[in-house]
Amino acid sequence: MLNITEYLREKKTLVDRHLDRLVPAAEEYPPVLQQAMRYSLFAGGKRIRPILALATGEALEGEFDRVIRLACALECIHTYSLIHDDLPAMDDDDFRRGNPTCHKKFGEGIAILAGNGLMTVAFQVLTEIPSASPGAETVLAVINRLCRAIGPQGGVIAGQVVDLTTAGKPFTEEELLYIHSSKTGALIEASVSCAAMLSEATPDELERLKTFGLKIGLAFQVVDDILDVVETSERLGKTPGKDTAEKKATYTALYGLERSREIAEQLVEEGIQSISFLGSAGEALKELARFISVRRF
Ligand code: IPE
Ligand code: IPE
Ligand code: MG
Ligand code: MG
Ligand code: MG
Repeated sequence: MLNITEYLREKKTLVDRHLDRLVPAAEEYPPVLQQAMRYSLFAGGKRIRPILALATGEALEGEFDRVIRLACALECIHTYSLIHDDLPAMDDDDFRRGNPTCHKKFGEGIAILAGNGLMTVAFQVLTEIPSASPGAETVLAVINRLCRAIGPQGGVIAGQVVDLTTAGKPFTEEELLYIHSSKTGALIEASVSCAAMLSEATPDELERLKTFGLKIGLAFQVVDDILDVVETSERLGKTPGKDTAEKKATYTALYGLERSREIAEQLVEEGIQSISFLGSAGEALKELARFISVRRF
């Protein structure tokens, strides 16, 4: 049986080592920008998206040198989204990954630019994926898919917009599903799907892994909503209770805690079922999915 705590620790160390190699050095000009990017990137963080990509690559026997670049790009994009999510014009948060937020430490201007910088570095790293086999078209298709996942048509940006525009207002089940699937589900789904593409998944394998990613991606945000209600700032490394205070559209607000827990568990189970075809090669992915529903941070 795979020990998920050990697995997460091991992979996080690996991801961090490659991130350190792939993002600009702290002393590069202008240092304040590189330091702000690195401050948020290395503040902590579970590295769930890169680890999902690595686990997908391992399950399909993909090439590590290709998947690790995708993994690092995913974490840069995710960290950019957190820096911007915390800005005063958005969730106005002071605390992230156990530290003051990027804008609290460096000011808003630098925080905005550090977010932009991390997103740009992500795409630079992706264009440098070794493309001898299966070829540059696959890398292009991966970049296209990732752009869609984080963009303004059902991607992270669209989800964040509807998250903002529904705050403090009545919202429907459909809007809630849209917000969560887009602002969080889409990047998690892309982490799995893009790794599968780089690992030369067949169309059928890709479809099943995509379903897995969609289900666990949505579950991830349902659990994030739950943690905002039940956990402490020490454990989360961010300020809980903000969703209720800001009257955000959340699963806990619409369905209550118990039902939200059931929804998250069911999504994870459905996700796991859709990758049964992997057999024992899918063990790490299944354990990561279970971790998403039982996690407390
Ligand atoms: C927090 O993501 C923001 C959401 C999309 C819910 P994580 O819970 O993955 O945050 P880190 O990366 O571990 O800090
Ligand atoms: C954030 O959702 C999603 C993105 C950053 C894209 P939340 O606003 O719920 O994330 P936290 O709770 O601040 O980490
Ligand atoms: Mg937010
Ligand atoms: Mg937030
Ligand atoms: Mg949240």
